[in-house]
Amino acid sequence: MFTGSVKTGRFSREPVKGVKIVTTGKVYFELQDKKIEVPAGTDLLQTAAMAGVPVEGDCGGKGTCGKCRIRILTGGSRKITPVEERLFSPGELAAGWVLACRQKVTGNLVIETPGVKDDAKSKARQKWQVSGAAIDPSVQKYFRCLNLPAPEDRTPDLERLVSSLPGQGLEADLVVVAGLPRILRQAGFKVTAVLAGNRIVAVEPGNTCGRSYGLALDLGTTTLAGYLVDLIKGKVAATSVSCNPQAIFGADVISRIRHAAYNKDGLRQLQEKMLDAVNGIIRRLQDRAAVQNEEIYETIVVGNTTMVHLFLGIEPSNLALTPFIPAFNRSLELRSTELGLNLPPAGRIQVLPSVAGFVGSDTVAMLLAAGLDRCKNVSLAVDIGTNGEVALAARDRILVCSSAAGSAFEGYHIEHGMRAVEGAIDSVVFGHDVQLGVIGGVAPRGICGSGLIDAVAGMLGAGIIDSAGRFVESGSGLDGAGLHPRLRSRLIKDGAGAGFLLAPGNLTATGKDIVITQKDIKELQLAKAAIAAGVRVLLQEMGISAGSIHEVLLAGAFGSHVRKESALAIGLLPPVSPCRIRSIGNAAGDGAILCLISRTDRNRALSLCSRVEHIDLSSRADFYDKFVDALPFTDL
Ligand code: FES
Repeated sequence: MFTGSVKTGRFSREPVKGVKIVTTGKVYFELQDKKIEVPAGTDLLQTAAMAGVPVEGDCGGKGTCGKCRIRILTGGSRKITPVEERLFSPGELAAGWVLACRQKVTGNLVIETPGVKDDAKSKARQKWQVSGAAIDPSVQKYFRCLNLPAPEDRTPDLERLVSSLPGQGLEADLVVVAGLPRILRQAGFKVTAVLAGNRIVAVEPGNTCGRSYGLALDLGTTTLAGYLVDLIKGKVAATSVSCNPQAIFGADVISRIRHAAYNKDGLRQLQEKMLDAVNGIIRRLQDRAAVQNEEIYETIVVGNTTMVHLFLGIEPSNLALTPFIPAFNRSLELRSTELGLNLPPAGRIQVLPSVAGFVGSDTVAMLLAAGLDRCKNVSLAVDIGTNGEVALAARDRILVCSSAAGSAFEGYHIEHGMRAVEGAIDSVVFGHDVQLGVIGGVAPRGICGSGLIDAVAGMLGAGIIDSAGRFVESGSGLDGAGLHPRLRSRLIKDGAGAGFLLAPGNLTATGKDIVITQKDIKELQLAKAAIAAGVRVLLQEMGISAGSIHEVLLAGAFGSHVRKESALAIGLLPPVSPCRIRSIGNAAGDGAILCLISRTDRNRALSLCSRVEHIDLSSRADFYDKFVDALPFTDL
């Protein structure tokens, strides 16, 4: 816990005796051990985002979803709003529970947020799989003992260095050239030149060839992931994952595009949030791997098209308007200084190319890591998220589409939904009763996407709901005939409608029942139908049936956690044997890592874009029919 006095602003008037003017407040997030000082009046949701502390919430801080629950342990004063009075019991309010988006910093505060202690737990739950890549990075280091200048050798410093290096037409930034005379002389003309492609990105005294690092960044709407890659060993040296702090402006890309379009400073705010978070990731990676930021010579960036636009500070509004035109889709190369990242000033940043407005460079990286450009059999790759990307490889073609699945898979818009962090029910096994798996082994706070799919698949299998997703009723109540009494006791029908009780309030962290409602089932149906309809369109376009699919690859964190049997049971995936369904982890991040380690793989990624055929679902007359057909919980 920190201690400290409340500051008054430098230009504030002399305080009246006995009256304390609070202009900033120090906020300490106890579980994450993070401190931040912010102007008084900043809301706590924004404060948490600035501190890099994940807080749930899917209404963009409007105070309507009730999910940004935090607990003020000490400090400040609070004004409880009507919505908080409605959501919390008097006991909870007395214990300090509030909605982060409704409360403001009024002084020093100590806060507890339900969730993971740091991103290490999320990281541990994901399998990063990079293997088989030959180590041949674009960044190469050359140690040189140069001849000393002499009256008979008046070669300028840069030419002296360049003439000792391989390759033609080498370039160097001003910042490198400016430091060269000093470094050469201090090091007695024994230096290491660092090349990224045909650019000299650094010159270092002595021989530093044993250390070289690159950064792979995967910019997602919900999560930002960074991987520090040892370019000598071809291994990931450290990983850091954080929430995308832009979430305070809305959970999905459309809300963010709107924020950028309709607020004077919106685009700048969004970019700043992202860059701050990325700089935080860089700091953590350096600490974890004991690496200096000057040793990170190159960065590969992948992400969905909107996130990449916002990262670069490019106006994204055309991505939300038909015909969804991005500002660019080719690969871009820039310097770290152009973005203000804590990396060497001449360090190279390469943004991988994207395919279309809603098929970003993360999909290109996913295709690369999944090897869809090389597979011989019919393969389907699915990255399930707010925007589901589906790719089908067959007959020397690769078809890709993007399907707006909404955020149900991320736990948003679900009554007791939450992201897959500590306290989330992530698995539900049906027997005579239900057995719940909770992330972190703590009392449950809600349910995440994989838990929801399990629960609905189980309810379907037990006959609690029918294939249309409706609770099976008999007479005036729910039909529990044939169910074990323990399962039957979980059926609820009251004024709020029908539901299935997963965890009673006396066993949950919030003291409230965790229930699957009819509306939750509807949300899941809409999300799964969007993905399934995308798969059907690609199969039709390729002229093959679902039966010819040899392998299904599930990308993304969600794909790593979802139970194959449950995904098959609700018709989210085509009916293949579970042994032909393979999780490939965060394939987008893996693809970015491959591009750092191997020039061959980077060239594959660059050429993949011209091979991929984008199928625009929004312009397909048959998409809506396929979507409606896919709503029932039947085989895809
Ligand atoms: S109620 Fe605070 S983010 Fe929704």
